[in-house]
Formats: sequence, C-alpha cells, structure tokens
Amino acid sequence: MNAEHRISLPGGRTLCLRPAREADAAGLLALLKSVVDEQVYIGLESVPSSVEEELRWLRTLMRRRRTLALVATSGDRIVGFLTLEPGTFGQKDAHVATLGIMVAPDFRAQGVGRAMMDYAVTWARLHQFEKIQLEVFASNRRAYAFYRKLGFVEEGRRRAAYRLPGIGLVDAIHMALFLNLQYP
Ligand SMILES: CC(C)(COP(=O)(O)OP(=O)(O)OC[C@H]1O[C@@H](n2cnc3c(N)ncnc32)[C@H](O)[C@@H]1OP(=O)(O)O)[C@@H](O)C(=O)NCCC(=O)NCCS
Repeated sequence: MNAEHRISLPGGRTLCLRPAREADAAGLLALLKSVVDEQVYIGLESVPSSVEEELRWLRTLMRRRRTLALVATSGDRIVGFLTLEPGTFGQKDAHVATLGIMVAPDFRAQGVGRAMMDYAVTWARLHQFEKIQLEVFASNRRAYAFYRKLGFVEEGRRRAAYRLPGIGLVDAIHMALFLNLQYP
C-alpha cells in the first residue's frame, strides 16, 4: 500500500493519502503544532524545536517495521496524520497496533479522519494485525463519537488519568477495533 489514494472532499477539493516521506517534516511539524496548541486533544505538550529535529523523529518512525506513518494532503499542505505502531513485546502483542490520529482544525468534520482510518484498517489487516487500540481523553467527545462511528468499542477507563487546561481531571478511555480476532 505505497500508492497514493485520492478522495474527494466537500467543496470539490481533493484529499491525497500516502505514507509519509522525509520531505514532509516541515508540514508535519506545522500540523502537530496546530493540534498541540489546542492543548486538550492529545497528550503531547510541545513540538520539536526545528524541522531537523522533526525529521530525525520521522526517520526513526519510518524505519520501524510494521509501522504506518500516513499523511493526508490537500494541495501542498499536510492536513492529517495517522500512525499505527506495533507492540514492543515481540510475539506476545504482535497482533496489536496502537493508533494515533490528528486532523488540522480547519479540515475537521469533512471526512479526512474517516478516509485515513479506512486506509489504516486495510493496512493493518494486510500486516496481520488483529486489533487496533487507542486511548482518548473522556472530555474529547468528538473523537470518542468518531471512534464509535467507526466501530471501536470501549475497553475500560483509567480514572482521573490526566489534568487538562481549562477542563480539569479527566478519565482516559481505552478503545479498540477488533479485526477478525477470535476471542471468547
Ligand atoms: C477526531 C478526529 C481525528 C476526527 O476526524 P474528522 O476528520 O474530524 O472526522 P470525519 O469528518 O472523518 O468524521 C468521521 C465520522 O465521525 C463522526 N463524527 C465526527 N465528529 C463528530 C462529532 N463531533 N460528533 C459525532 N460524530 C462525529 C462523523 O459523523 C463521521 O461520520 P460520517 O462519515 O458517517 O458522517 C479529528 O476531529 C481531530 O483530529 N481532532 C483533534 C485531535 C484528536 O482529537 N485526535 C484524537 C486523539 S485520541
């Protein structure tokens, strides 16, 4: 799945989905900063201080086996980013991929997240993953509704796991999408 996928967005714009490249470092840094600046959707508190630092992080991610770093572009701009990463315990959790996703504030609620997720689920199946897992802040109702809509189920909560600016203490909700996993 290295080819580009093109999808039509509302308003006649085209969204392009493809694996990240080194040349994406600056665009990814800009996207990451816009989401980190919102403070309440992802755990990350700061972004790399330079494009070079971002590039080093991206290279490490891209070199990891069974890892997806997917970008969504509109024109020259990176408007979405999704990662799927395998577990770290060899065969014991080789069937599980952990998901991270973000869409630029002005591109939300237009189908970008769903398009990236469809790509990611196909990729996960091709790479023999049987479960996609994630953690979402309980206060992030939009993301929670988004995951539910895509078939994720709630697995459990860690109580008062985070203290978010302007919100206070929130639970961490663990969610998962099972891909043909035979489990009682
Ligand atoms: C959560 C996020 C990834 C969703 O991506 P998106 O591009 O906004 O979502 P989409 O437009 O593709 O929506 C997909 C589906 O989710 C549903 N959905 C999206 N936002 C919703 C909301 N606020 N309430 C209810 N359903 C919602 C839509 O109805 C849509 O279903 P449809 O395709 O049948 O209409 C995006 O909003 C985002 O990046 N948020 C900030 C960062 C973040 O929260 N990341 C996740 C941290 S765990």
